[in-house]
Amino acid sequence: MTIGGGVGYFIMVNKPDLSQFDLVRGEQIYNSICIACHLPGQFGAPKVGNHADWSPRLAKGLDSLFISSINGLNDMPPRGGNASLSDDEVKNAVAFMVSKSWW
Ligand code: HEC
Repeated sequence: MTIGGGVGYFIMVNKPDLSQFDLVRGEQIYNSICIACHLPGQFGAPKVGNHADWSPRLAKGLDSLFISSINGLNDMPPRGGNASLSDDEVKNAVAFMVSKSWW
């Protein structure tokens, strides 16, 4: 939805549909590895449960977050540093963190 005369845009980040992800499995992976940085915000990691940390990242789209969590991004190691995680496992962990960071 656009508010205004086409000059400015009001951008809303809608909660992504996470129904296709296994959030229970994602929580296990989060608790085993991602939590080390994403609970305290270590190295500037977006904190789980902190919507303000996550909304600008979500504005890039969920797929973009999957790509950076699989490939790494600055101090975020590829697959959280556990190369044995499959793409789907990393995605489930991202989906879990997003699900906990909404409102
Ligand atoms: C060693 C610390 C560390 C671990 C472990 C870690 N992360 Fe991160 N993560 C970071 C940091 C730091 C950033 C911020 C990177 C930046 O924007 O420069 C980040 C950013 C992210 C982002 C946002 C990426 C973006 O495009 O904005 C996602 C998603 C993410 N991590 C997922 C995960 C998942 C899933 C795991 C566990 C499998 C995990 N992280 C484990 C440090 C970590």
